[in-house]
Amino acid sequence: MPSTPTFSSHRTDIAGVAVPELARRFGTPSYIYDAGKIAERINDLTQFEVVRFAQKACSNIAILDLIRRQGVLVDAVSAGEIRRAMAAGYSPHPEKHGDPHPIVYTADIFDRESLALVVEQKIHCNCGSPDMIDQLGEAAPGSEITLRINPGFGHGHSQKTNTGGEQSKHGIWHEQLADVLGRADHGGLSVTGLHLHIGSGTDLEHLSQVCGAMERLAREVGRSLTTISAGGGLPVPYRAEQGYVDIDVYYKLWDESRKRLEEAFGHPLTLELEPGRYLVAESGCLVAEIRAIKQMGANTFYVVDAGFNNLARPILYGAYHPMSICAADGSSAAQRPANDVVIGGPLCESGDIFTQEEGGFVSTRRLPAANIGDFLVIEVAGAYGAVMSSNYNSKPFAAEVLIADGKAELIRARQTFEDLIRGERIPNSSA
Ligand code: LLP
Repeated sequence: MPSTPTFSSHRTDIAGVAVPELARRFGTPSYIYDAGKIAERINDLTQFEVVRFAQKACSNIAILDLIRRQGVLVDAVSAGEIRRAMAAGYSPHPEKHGDPHPIVYTADIFDRESLALVVEQKIHCNCGSPDMIDQLGEAAPGSEITLRINPGFGHGHSQKTNTGGEQSKHGIWHEQLADVLGRADHGGLSVTGLHLHIGSGTDLEHLSQVCGAMERLAREVGRSLTTISAGGGLPVPYRAEQGYVDIDVYYKLWDESRKRLEEAFGHPLTLELEPGRYLVAESGCLVAEIRAIKQMGANTFYVVDAGFNNLARPILYGAYHPMSICAADGSSAAQRPANDVVIGGPLCESGDIFTQEEGGFVSTRRLPAANIGDFLVIEVAGAYGAVMSSNYNSKPFAAEVLIADGKAELIRARQTFEDLIRGERIPNSSA
């Protein structure tokens, strides 16, 4: 278990590499990941037999490769994510029947491309709607499937990340279980897995309620089950006072449920966990350069070269990210006076503010005084950071860099202008 997190407002390096050196080599804005942090978080979870990374949190193939080499399996929510997993070395299906599936496709629909791909590559599917069951039954009768059930309740760090209850589009409604078991049977599909994921960035109290729901639902499915999945949702601290979830307590709750089910079924069950944020959030920082400092009445704005095109969490959820200032020459800003400042990005939109609360209310952050050319490091940005980037205002995707053993390597080149307009064309008829 990690100890309480500490955040500094005057960081000078990331994983041992000086911030200005990273900026000089890779430019700004750039996402910098610390491989060591990912390994630490994977280590926290060794009690769970199968840890399946929800790659939607950070799907760069270098990160997937790193995670794969540490024995973690992977979840995919689209044909693109299946292809990423395969590009990072995951086999589409287990070598031996009965082994855990290296890749699982978890979604609420099959678009035509993903249905064709899962059938062609024999990818195990976690079905989140009755229609998926029908469609897979037709396309690949004889397959084994997992059912994702919405247990009727959910919880997340924001209403937008709550995936349970009647307002959520996710999963199969719990009262429809008997109906979907009939559909699976009709399609010649065997239900070997059951999966519950109630939301992202939730807490132990809510996560604990899932075990009871799992036990009830699993008994209804019966002995065909070989795997139960607790889903993702494990929170990470974004503020020092938040602390970590007690993984031992969490594991024990699930292990007890699993054991009761094993007794009822008379055979072993594999327990899976499906974290996204927990594995990668703390490994990632977004490094930006301060390009303007302006006073708007009582507010001081530091305007940086990264915006919500690079990190959308503040504008989407009012998410809080720790931040620090590093002087342009790499020296510590610790001795500088502290100011309460607003941090804005370069986009032509008022909401492009990194210090905001849900609802768009601008807030301030206490940071060391800064000068143009200093760096702003936005921390705990490895999960749902780069993957949620956009090209709004024709801004390229940032570079991504992985630091392992003190060595920084580019894992995604910054987009070029040619990348930005690839695929666009001016029709001949306009000539
Ligand atoms: N499994 C399923 C089926 C999911 O839908 C998700 C997240 C996860 C696992 C991983 O959840 P995690 O362990 O990362 O909490 N963009 C939002 C988070 C959206 C999560 C979507 N699904 C954010 O930036 O907070």
